[in-house]
Amino acid sequence: MTTTILDGKHTAELARNALLSPIAQLTRNGHTPGLAVVLVGDDPASRVYVNSKVKACEQLGIFSQKWTLPSDTTQIELLELIHKLNEDPAIHGILVQSPPPPHIDEAEVIRHINPDKDVDGFHPVNVAKLTLEDPSGFVPCTPLGCMELLKTYGIPTAGKHAVVLGRSMIVGKPMASLLVSKAANATVTIAHSRTQNLAEICRNADILIAAVGKPELVKADFIKPGAVVIDVGINRVEDASAPRGYRLVGDVDFSAVQPLCSAITPVPGGVGPMTIAMLMANTVKACRQISGR
Ligand code: GUN
Repeated sequence: MTTTILDGKHTAELARNALLSPIAQLTRNGHTPGLAVVLVGDDPASRVYVNSKVKACEQLGIFSQKWTLPSDTTQIELLELIHKLNEDPAIHGILVQSPPPPHIDEAEVIRHINPDKDVDGFHPVNVAKLTLEDPSGFVPCTPLGCMELLKTYGIPTAGKHAVVLGRSMIVGKPMASLLVSKAANATVTIAHSRTQNLAEICRNADILIAAVGKPELVKADFIKPGAVVIDVGINRVEDASAPRGYRLVGDVDFSAVQPLCSAITPVPGGVGPMTIAMLMANTVKACRQISGR
């Protein structure tokens, strides 16, 4: 079977290019989109992600602020920053990089973000809007990026059986909501780490979304021949021969699975770049909605 490699780098570039003219128009009208990215602590992977987000803003002409707070920042100090950003007219999107240090109550922090500026789509108001299929809401960037990849490559979802492996607030649950929505019309199964007969359930999938954070968990016996496989995992595994001492692998054993499927995302270069492009799209949407009032 010839397998299509779903090129997230290229697709993300197309999605970013589509934002250039809306950004220019908003800017001409005095509303340059602005994103504030907040990082608490010094998790190395989080630092890389935050820097990529700021760089993507710079390349598109989106105003950005990076707030790097020490790991002993208190809950109150973090909430004070959030309130300040909620009030700042130059900021349309606010994002607190996850996961924060363990003493921070992340759910409470998210509840304090103005839902109109919640470009991550994590606030309960936006979770509800996704369930209600209200288009004014913000959808989490990674599942939105997965849908955009499927759409760009013309992969149909209507009537298909999609299995979402993972139930996180960031990917699994919103992914399932998007796939079952009237825009996509898939039949959805959510599986997770406690699911029995996991391989058998995944083997029923026309579309398999792997988002459990377990390196190369998905093997050949999880795959229905001809399935479409979207690998959301970005796992660092030790590798003494790699320049940094680690390499990145997905939740899918790519070399074992690739020959069986009709289409698959690579790691890196699949879903990762799409997440950042969708964050840019959500920031432009926030700016348009706030400035249009
Ligand atoms: N950590 C992993 N993915 C994400 C994301 O999409 N947003 C935020 N804020 N943190 C993350």
